[in-house]
Amino acid sequence: MPTTLLQSDLPGLELLHRGKVRDVYALPGNRLLIVASDRLSAFDVVLPDPIPGKGEMLTQISNFWFGKTGHLVPNHLLHTPLGEVLPAGTDLALYDKRAVVTRRLKPVPVEAIARGYLIGSGWKDYQATGAVCGIRLPAGLKQAQQLPEPIFTPSTKAAVGDHDENVSFDAVVAAVGAELAGQVRDATLTIYKWAAAYAAERGIILADTKLEFGTDEHGKLYVMDEMLTPDSSRYWPADEYQVGISPPSYDKQFVRDYLETLDWNKKAPGPRVPAEVIERTAAKYAEALRRIADIRLD
Ligand SMILES: Nc1ncnc2c1ncn2[C@@H]1O[C@H](COP(=O)(O)OP(=O)(O)O)[C@@H](O)[C@H]1O
Ligand SMILES: [Mg+2]
Repeated sequence: MPTTLLQSDLPGLELLHRGKVRDVYALPGNRLLIVASDRLSAFDVVLPDPIPGKGEMLTQISNFWFGKTGHLVPNHLLHTPLGEVLPAGTDLALYDKRAVVTRRLKPVPVEAIARGYLIGSGWKDYQATGAVCGIRLPAGLKQAQQLPEPIFTPSTKAAVGDHDENVSFDAVVAAVGAELAGQVRDATLTIYKWAAAYAAERGIILADTKLEFGTDEHGKLYVMDEMLTPDSSRYWPADEYQVGISPPSYDKQFVRDYLETLDWNKKAPGPRVPAEVIERTAAKYAEALRRIADIRLD
């Protein structure tokens, strides 16, 4: 049975950050304990109702991909058993599938996005300018069309409540230097291409994905945070894919569709969500985990 956790409570550990989804604690030895809660954010607002088991599913999907891509790009996972780091008396079952011990890295201040298809903000920018993040694309492309080749389309990390903004590769160079910018771009495209090919064999299109990177005290680059989850990526069932329309995806579409029916200004606090919408969303995450990683959490 999946567990439900809206907010972690680990007395004795130093809470560094409570994000939209994850609670991040400091551990000795320059390490972190990252706990994925069942919080759901939509339009960048955290909703009051948890999606039971969502944090477990996100963590298991990330761990799956970190394992699969570790030979391509080093990642932040340390594989320390949780029993060694959780405070005495913690319910291990509640944290077992949703928490990981990682290296504590210095975040590279950019959302590293790879796109193989023209959708979302990429589609919007293309319609307005014929380019995405300064990368000029062929004329006449349609919504959701596959690009001639995957492109790196970075955006700035916005503070809670703000929306991210697409930027050019040159802006990343200006922010972090040419060498690191190039490393981040190459690692992002390498992971995207590998994962897209893997998903394609399973009847799933990986349209795009957002990665986060960090460096250690020697400047070595690691991919961190979450990897190739339905929250950070657009997965489309290949058999429902059609150029010209926005395909259904394994993400928060049920919740977003529901919220669009409300008279809500998309600002905190978010509204309550009916049980049926919560159940259907949880089922979508479970389906993504099963189809992508062949993992069942029951
Ligand atoms: N290995 C790591 N080292 C340092 N920071 C990390 C690491 N992995 C993830 N993080 C950070 O931890 C936070 C995870 O919380 P999350 O709920 O995803 O936050 P957000 O609301 O910012 O998306 C993010 O700020 C992410 O950048
Ligand atoms: Mg995040």
